[in-house]
Amino acid sequence: MSRRAAQPLRSRRAAAPDLARRIEARTAKVGIIGLGYVGLPLACLFAEQGFPVTGFDIDPKKIEVLNAGRSYIKHIPATRIRPLVRAGRLEASGNFAGLKQMDAVIICVPTPLTKFREPDLRFIVVTGESVARTLRKGQLVVLESSTYPGTTTEVLKPILERGGLKSGRDFHLAYSPEREDPGNETYGTAAIPKVIGGDGATALKLAKQLYDGVVVKTVPVSSPETAEAIKLTENIFRAVNIAMVNELKVIFDAMGIDVWEVIEAAKTKPFGFMPFYPGPGLGGHCIPIDPFYLTWKAREFGINTRFIELAGEINTLMPRYVVNRLSEALSTHAGRALRKAKILMLGLAYKKNVDDMRESPSLTLIGMLEAAGAVVDYHDPYIARIKPSREHGHLTDRRSVPLNAKRIAAADAVLIVTDHDSVDYRLVAKHAKLVIDTRNAMAKAGVRGGKVVKA
Ligand SMILES: NC(=O)c1ccc[n+]([C@@H]2O[C@H](COP(=O)([O-])OP(=O)(O)OC[C@H]3O[C@@H](n4cnc5c(N)ncnc54)[C@H](O)[C@@H]3O)[C@@H](O)[C@H]2O)c1
Repeated sequence: MSRRAAQPLRSRRAAAPDLARRIEARTAKVGIIGLGYVGLPLACLFAEQGFPVTGFDIDPKKIEVLNAGRSYIKHIPATRIRPLVRAGRLEASGNFAGLKQMDAVIICVPTPLTKFREPDLRFIVVTGESVARTLRKGQLVVLESSTYPGTTTEVLKPILERGGLKSGRDFHLAYSPEREDPGNETYGTAAIPKVIGGDGATALKLAKQLYDGVVVKTVPVSSPETAEAIKLTENIFRAVNIAMVNELKVIFDAMGIDVWEVIEAAKTKPFGFMPFYPGPGLGGHCIPIDPFYLTWKAREFGINTRFIELAGEINTLMPRYVVNRLSEALSTHAGRALRKAKILMLGLAYKKNVDDMRESPSLTLIGMLEAAGAVVDYHDPYIARIKPSREHGHLTDRRSVPLNAKRIAAADAVLIVTDHDSVDYRLVAKHAKLVIDTRNAMAKAGVRGGKVVKA
């Protein structure tokens, strides 16, 4: 039996009923740490459902913008934030001493990879230390950041317990992976079932009760490790399937077969098939990164993650494939080389209709094209300026150019990297000398004509 079972029964149960009552009455104060693409919509959701919410972040700009009732994320409008701030149900703070007043603390900080492609848990560790400084009896702490199995109990829990309080006896610890799909209009935060693993039965019960108050369904599982494994499984499933269709794209293209037509028809099968779509390479905070969290952890057990590595290899080759297709198309259709060619890149974001450029293949593509001597401009309606990034620092502060007939006609090729809905693809078809389409955007927009090469 665990050490926890040896604790005196009264002290073990001391705080839980009180927190349960406060959750039930929606008076439990919810603190959300990390107000990014995951934390901000979650903070709004809890506030909309009647909980008093404080969002904590280290970025003073975000705090200022939120407290003024404005937004810094395109798909979360100020009209959603302002009434919550005005009603006093949502506030942002950089003062982490305020965590002490919270009944539940939810951690949504980044989990990137280091430059050696290993898990970078710096943000979780620093946040854990902040929470530990003010941790008090009865608090519920939930980690939501995507990470490898074991992070909650092997990394976060020891930090929280440093002050002498014990998980399961004095405070309650759980893991509940975020499944946010930014920009998805069908499945917002409230409509996505939430998986929860608790460090002990009380933690699970409390976390379940908390999330039951705001999302459509909760899915309790046996442990935080299982919940962590579920998140990685979902993202590995995507990474591997995307790699498979990317490989099929290359094969079918060589055979003169359109992979998008194949997928559209294949998905009419009512069972046993699920469509995934090829593209210019993986992007975003999750799919290119999370699978390697498992790869790293699996090494501890002497196991190689071959599917993950192969998928990573194929997906990483996609920008190279796109550059080769572009180069061939320029030569075949315009008799010119990539060197000195003017390329207008459409879309910088890693996926359509969002303003997130993290890990976007567009940045790799700009680097490759410029290394080959091409002159690249980009247009993205949602990314006016390229923000600093570790791997593509030299692109910082480049600006989106306007999309108009003159600019399109002046380019030797238009390269579609992101299929934002708001782009005028008819205008592109009308004026472009050549279009390289990595997303099948022209066909999806119903645009006929123009010289379109899929890549
Ligand atoms: N973006 C997505 O679509 C998505 C989906 C599912 C899961 N996730 C996971 O959720 C987690 C958060 O991702 P995100 O996209 O919201 O990241 P983000 O970069 O958009 O937001 C993270 C926020 O945390 C803040 N922060 C960093 N260190 C902090 C600290 N020590 N204390 C307080 N705040 C701090 C940052 O300033 C930022 O506002 C990651 O683990 C990610 O893998 C993201």
